Amino acid sequence: MATSQNINKKYPKNIGIIMDGNGRWALKNALNISQGHKKGVSVVKNIVEESVKQGIQSLTLYAFSSENWKRPKAEINAIKSLVIEAINEQVPELKEKKVKLKFFGHISDFGKKIQDKISFAENETFSKDSKLDLNVALGYGGQQDILDMVIKVSKQVSQGKIKLEDLNEESINEFLSVPVNEIDLLIRTGGDKRISNFLLYQIAYAEIMFIDKFWPDFTQEDFAQCIDNFKNVSRRFGKRI
Ligand code: IPE
Ligand code: IPE
Ligand code: MG
Repeated sequence: MATSQNINKKYPKNIGIIMDGNGRWALKNALNISQGHKKGVSVVKNIVEESVKQGIQSLTLYAFSSENWKRPKAEINAIKSLVIEAINEQVPELKEKKVKLKFFGHISDFGKKIQDKISFAENETFSKDSKLDLNVALGYGGQQDILDMVIKVSKQVSQGKIKLEDLNEESINEFLSVPVNEIDLLIRTGGDKRISNFLLYQIAYAEIMFIDKFWPDFTQEDFAQCIDNFKNVSRRFGKRI
């Protein structure tokens, strides 16, 4: 019988991760930055595997922020190459596992080659009954996304396509680029306690866990522990319960 205690023991449906610490991990291991990012990509594979195992609905990963364009060109190029490499290597397995890939953010800033690769990956893994939705933020910034939304909404209102009365907390999601409306659990590795412009609108009621490990050191067990910890949290959503 469900008791008030185990009513709260729910799985997080939608998880977001700020995968931070690749650079410091590389430094710690006397490797170069791109080797840190490469190791970071291999961790994604394990976390996706665990998410499928645990029946998580969506996993939304911060791969490259709009502010990461301020990094050295060589590092940006290494990340671009890794995106292509990761798609080439992982799409067949993702497809087999029914993991649906979706990229969001200002993808066009990455050039045609990556855009084409991403379209390919999204088409290949598209499924109406996916086991896991894997959303990857690329060239994404939460503030920019809200600004883009305001511009889109304003245009549609001025063209008479939508009415101001139609706008509410739910309906504006349609104009945001993020494929998921609500994050239940947000994890940030790397030890810093900040959001760094990730899903600003969608984390309104997320439980936030800051993990004191670099992303390349984050294991399936660490992830499973975060999910377990989430189950013990009482989510009140402002109510008196
Ligand atoms: C996160 O790791 C990956 C990206 C931002 C692309 P970092 O590269 O930020 O690693 P640290 O924070 O410098 O250690
Ligand atoms: C956040 O990490 C972005 C990603 C993980 C992709 P950053 O390393 O860019 O964040 P800051 O600069 O420490 O805030
Ligand atoms: Mg960082």
